[in-house]
Amino acid sequence: MDAAATETFVRRFLDGMQYEASREGPPDGFPRFPPIPGGRYNDPAFFEAERQGLWKRTWLYACHTDELPDAGSFMLWTRTGSPILIVRGKDRKIRAFYNTCRHRGGPLVKTDAGRCDGLVCSYHGWTYALDGQLVNLRDRRDFVDLDMGAHSLVSVRCEQLANWVFINEDPNARPLLEDLGPIPGHLEQFQPESLRFIEKHGYDLKCNVKVLLDAFLEVYHLKSIHQNTVDRFLDHRGTSIALFRHGHSLMVTPNRRPDWVDPGTVGMRRVETATVISTSNNPSWNLYPNLVTPIDPSGCPFLLFWPTGPDSMRIECHWFAPDWGDAELSPLWATRIANFDRILDEDLQFAEKIQKSVESPGFRGMTLNYQERRIYHWHEELDRRIQAAGIEIPAHLRVQPLLEPYYET
Ligand code: FES
Ligand SMILES: [Fe+2]
Repeated sequence: MDAAATETFVRRFLDGMQYEASREGPPDGFPRFPPIPGGRYNDPAFFEAERQGLWKRTWLYACHTDELPDAGSFMLWTRTGSPILIVRGKDRKIRAFYNTCRHRGGPLVKTDAGRCDGLVCSYHGWTYALDGQLVNLRDRRDFVDLDMGAHSLVSVRCEQLANWVFINEDPNARPLLEDLGPIPGHLEQFQPESLRFIEKHGYDLKCNVKVLLDAFLEVYHLKSIHQNTVDRFLDHRGTSIALFRHGHSLMVTPNRRPDWVDPGTVGMRRVETATVISTSNNPSWNLYPNLVTPIDPSGCPFLLFWPTGPDSMRIECHWFAPDWGDAELSPLWATRIANFDRILDEDLQFAEKIQKSVESPGFRGMTLNYQERRIYHWHEELDRRIQAAGIEIPAHLRVQPLLEPYYET
């Protein structure tokens, strides 16, 4: 974004927060949301439709380039159910392939991560270069007329936003940066190329992935479950929300005091070019479907929400900080991450209980208010994706499209 576009972006949210804090109800004509059907959170058939229509054909964050530092560094990535090998080539380019030998499906790599010089199948030794080309095979005389060129590893779409690597199993997907619309522009203020990977960890939970994801798309819950933490410095009533095409969205929540700085970040290296949207307020992006990132000038987590079954999921936190050069990473980071995990615990505490509720006859759907419109937006996009994949959603599980007139660019 150039200076003028940045100014427009900042103005949009400063004005938006002022408007939200002072309004007396939703804007005139804003639609009331029909309840989100509970079956979307536990019906195995809906889960399968979601898997095929969404997770198997959407851009999903996989790793940071720091996690694949050398030629031959690889990672085995299985979040969509298929074994996908992400590997850095001799030309430094990061590519993705199914970890599936073109002979009879043997695995090329067998560990979650490592480094190799080439990809040798463990079953009968077919050998592939790091760019996926089949370069050697045993007893070639016994494969009559085998076209080696036509037996490269099958590639998977793999594209980057700065140094963040995304995977998409749909060969016909629109390019990542096009899919993300205005978001790469928003992130320029954080100099994303200079953000380095710190660490990642995660937790397994017994709830549908959307039960927990929903909690990260609104701040209506701050006063209850974050009463002694986040609510003390964020004013949820001033939250301004932008909905974008393809399911993405951004919410910006004002700090209660403009000069407030998270004590946990004092003394940390900060990106100088961050705007007031993140120096004096709290922005959180949702890169559809499952990446939520509240970005601070001193760094950010990527929160990733992964379905592992109709009623189970895993949440992961991947942390990034502005380049700390040759020095050691600041020891403040260990405390910062531990503090964040304590807040995360507050968010996790009801997830499994909500899942039980959703499965009970007492549950009559999610009743959403205007502040919770990112959740409705998320679900609308889900139906669009499932339908675009040619899968019919039963009428009682559908969500009525309402929000398109409110999309911003
Ligand atoms: S399955 Fe890979 S060499 Fe046979
Ligand atoms: Fe929360």
